[in-house]
Amino acid sequence: MKRKIFLGVIIVIVVVCIGVGVFLLINNRNSSALNDIDISAEDLNNDNVNILIAYYSYNDNVLDLAKEIQNQTGGELWQIERAVPYTNFEVEALDEINNNTRPLLDNTNAIEDINEYPVIFVCYPVWWNNAPTIINSFLESYDLTGNVIIPFRISSSDDDISVNSLRQSVPDNVTVLEGLKLTNEEVTSGSGKEEIANWLSSFAVFK
Ligand SMILES: Cc1cc2nc3c(=O)[nH]c(=O)nc-3n(C[C@H](O)[C@H](O)[C@H](O)COP(=O)(O)O)c2cc1C
Repeated sequence: MKRKIFLGVIIVIVVVCIGVGVFLLINNRNSSALNDIDISAEDLNNDNVNILIAYYSYNDNVLDLAKEIQNQTGGELWQIERAVPYTNFEVEALDEINNNTRPLLDNTNAIEDINEYPVIFVCYPVWWNNAPTIINSFLESYDLTGNVIIPFRISSSDDDISVNSLRQSVPDNVTVLEGLKLTNEEVTSGSGKEEIANWLSSFAVFK
């Protein structure tokens, strides 16, 4: 009987140790990833660090929240524009995603020196679990070496793979953070601004 109790205690200790080990491993992995990135809340509010808030929005929901990021960071708002507007929106948008095509950008307002903006928020709606491919067109049209890309998107999808597709559009040495995903419900309920404020304040952990 005593042997059984002893064995039981040993098993519980081993299970707890494994659990703690896994927890520490996961946390350590996250924190080391964060520590690699040299941005803080102060940086985001520092006049010396130029912040670009590049957005693409079809129905203005993303635009409203990109403006909020602008308000809270003092960055510069910049519209990612298609050279050719959609004529048959859903059909063409889905076709671009399925075929991974790169729509042409309206480059009349092209950014002269993207490296003036070490921090670039990239804001977009999620369509069929992905980013509109005009976002890939944008990322691929600049040399982003040295920039940090911070995605912001509206998406209720658990299968949202948009950040991966953004990562495929930049060189390996460009950091694309996980960023913030707000659900459609959070946007319609009006909690988006507060979520953005909490998120931006969390950048203090990057130092
Ligand atoms: C064509 C299309 C596809 C969409 N696909 C998704 C999706 O896969 N997952 C999701 O959560 N929302 C999806 N949405 C909802 C949009 O992400 C949401 O409406 C967003 O707020 C639109 O932003 P905008 O107003 O700035 O264009 C989709 C909307 C459209 C128009």
